[in-house]
Amino acid sequence: MPPMRILPAKSDADVRLGVPGDKSISHRAVLFNAIAQGGATVHDAGLGQDVLSSIRCMRHLGIHFEVADRLIRIHGQGMRGLTASAAALDCGNSGTTARLISGILAGQPFRSVLEGDQSLSRRPMRRIAEPLRLMGAQVLGDTLPLTIQGGSLRGIEYQPDVASAQVKSCILLAALFATSPTTLIEPLATRDHTERLLQAQGVQVDLDLPRITVHPPSELHAVDIQVPGDFSSAAYWLVAALVSPGASVHVSNVGINPARIGLLEVLREMGAQIEILNPRTVGGEPVADLLARHSELRGASIGGAMIPRLVDEVPILSVAAAVANGTTTITDAAELRVKESDRLAAVAAGLTRLGVQVQELPEGLIIHGDASLDGGETLETYGDHRLAMSWAVAGLAAKKPVTIDDAECVSISYPSFWADLERFNGQ
Ligand code: S3P
Repeated sequence: MPPMRILPAKSDADVRLGVPGDKSISHRAVLFNAIAQGGATVHDAGLGQDVLSSIRCMRHLGIHFEVADRLIRIHGQGMRGLTASAAALDCGNSGTTARLISGILAGQPFRSVLEGDQSLSRRPMRRIAEPLRLMGAQVLGDTLPLTIQGGSLRGIEYQPDVASAQVKSCILLAALFATSPTTLIEPLATRDHTERLLQAQGVQVDLDLPRITVHPPSELHAVDIQVPGDFSSAAYWLVAALVSPGASVHVSNVGINPARIGLLEVLREMGAQIEILNPRTVGGEPVADLLARHSELRGASIGGAMIPRLVDEVPILSVAAAVANGTTTITDAAELRVKESDRLAAVAAGLTRLGVQVQELPEGLIIHGDASLDGGETLETYGDHRLAMSWAVAGLAAKKPVTIDDAECVSISYPSFWADLERFNGQ
């Protein structure tokens, strides 16, 4: 795909959109149903490259999937039904695939090798290797490629150093295969899709937060899942509406799990007009329609327990902060350095190119908003989908067109992003 040129927003855009199914929930629907007993159907799954990586790995482990449009049919083989893969399991760009599947592989009586693309191969895996070793698995490597010889596991009590839903989920999945219960103590609350789905599959998960205890089941029930739209994808349209004069965007059917919508709360604090319409529960997850209107924004301070609640939204929040009046300070966000790219460095570099005054901190950013962005520049994505989409929204708010070097990478989480941008901006 050639570089993408984004023109400043047409005024008065008034758009209704739906976004792809939630990536985190889609991964879990695929992986957990693969080790459940019986068939399950996942409706409205997000079929970006990352979720396809989870499906690909599970196919190599002997699970049969039918994938059509937004529907996935999974033929689960039970907790002991996976078979060893002769080839290395390719996790692509997907940290969620690598970390969650490692928890499952730690409980299997065979050896597996996990590999990934250049970005994923740089990302830290010691955070999962260490607890899996404590549980009794042999794990070679602290980055990909990772070799896991699984087998009989013991339950542990463990407090990870980092607040990470991927690390938590890896341990809770390995816990299914242990001979005694496992308790995980979360340093800060992170998304709880794993706990919700395991409970729906009949696993006893005790929540005495921040302590989460999994009691090993004899099997998991297969469950059909209706996946809500991904708040992390809706986030681009919320901010697009806020920064485009006269604009309003209605995004239907979006997951509003409290652990995921930190951005919505922060934007409202910044002065954003965002309405939560028609709240309901779908498949054990809270869902609503979201309506955002162009708003004058002011700066905010964000850190601590808020960070895990908007961990994937820091790039798009930074774009909102750049067009806000006043200073926005983001702290406690060191994890951003080990995402698909170093998002603190990448955001600082991109906003600087757009004429924004930004200070990069070891664990955060200080952004001096000045209401308008220059544009006329090419921005780098470093192959990171969330940067590509954030820069597209920055382009809407800029005075001159912005070019995005790698447009293709949006397919990781949101393959139809450019088509939806065309609907927003008619370009
Ligand atoms: C995810 C957890 C988060 C998030 C990622 C998806 C998940 O990662 O950034 O996009 O589905 O569990 P960390 O656990 O590394 O914070």
